[in-house]
Amino acid sequence: MASGAGRATVRSLDEEVEDLGKMAEDVRAGLLSVPKDLSPWPKYFYDARGSEIFEEITEQPEYYQTRTELSILEEKAPEIVRRTRCRELVELGSGSASKTRALLDAMMEAGEGPVRYVPFDVSESAVTGSAERLLGEYPELEIRGYVGDFDRSLERLLERPDPDGPGRLVIFLGGTLGNFTPERRREFLGRLKNGLGERDHLLIGVDLVKDPSVIEAAYDDSAGVTAAFNKNLLEVLNRKLGGEFDPDLFAHRATYNHEDSRLEMWLDSEITQNVPVAALDIEVSFEYGEGMRTEISTKFTCESVTGAFGESGLRMLDLYIDDQDLFGLALGTPA
Ligand code: AVJ
Repeated sequence: MASGAGRATVRSLDEEVEDLGKMAEDVRAGLLSVPKDLSPWPKYFYDARGSEIFEEITEQPEYYQTRTELSILEEKAPEIVRRTRCRELVELGSGSASKTRALLDAMMEAGEGPVRYVPFDVSESAVTGSAERLLGEYPELEIRGYVGDFDRSLERLLERPDPDGPGRLVIFLGGTLGNFTPERRREFLGRLKNGLGERDHLLIGVDLVKDPSVIEAAYDDSAGVTAAFNKNLLEVLNRKLGGEFDPDLFAHRATYNHEDSRLEMWLDSEITQNVPVAALDIEVSFEYGEGMRTEISTKFTCESVTGAFGESGLRMLDLYIDDQDLFGLALGTPA
């Protein structure tokens, strides 16, 4: 499956991007655990509507992450490009590629031969759309887009590093690493590390530990956008698995968990209820006030990022942060 003309191609790496059988299995496990916990599978938030609401979250005044990460990139991109000498930018979960330009500009300005951009996302329209837009802005750019799920396709995306070629910079922005449980994070970073060649580098956005009230406000904005994002997960379960959740009977809650240094989003049942989920052939019962965890978003310190990298065979070279210590960009390389 290839499309596109000229200097942009978009290919699919997965046989089938959506696997409802796997989703049913994940959700069943989550609904049967105590407490109910869907946070190990953050990807189910991002259906078309969920992705749209997330874009809206990034524009909320309380949600400091997106604009802060962009400001760090704008300031540090030339230094990052100089240090890594990368000529190929691989973006995991590229989405709308709104933060990519700072790095592409710096790569273009470094001016040592062709520059390649490799966006990778589950959403085919995101990859095609950003490829078209960037090609318009950078006529010299070579774009090789891939559609896939990194649970399955990371290895194929990163295969064949050219040992004599210039290095690749693999970026994973937005703080998405924080959504992984420690085990999944270790596995993910380990798989990434295995796909990297000697000259390749990794740049990962991480949200930093700070006053919990600032974090909680970012996940409970006054316009109610994050609440809508959280409840949209129920709509996803309804549509894909034949669930009968009524989002109005659940309340959004965002709580900072000190012990695990993470923000947790929950949906609390406002009544005692039984909710059928057809594809799972079960009825899920909720007690009055019972919570279901839907997302974790881990907050890091310099030490904890260094530790997470080290556990997976990566060496942290630098942690670039903004002047208010809100957000960080961790630069690493295979140890
Ligand atoms: C896109 C995963 C980084 O954890 O901050 C935003 C998702 N959830 N508000 C985050 C999210 C609720 C976001 N990430």
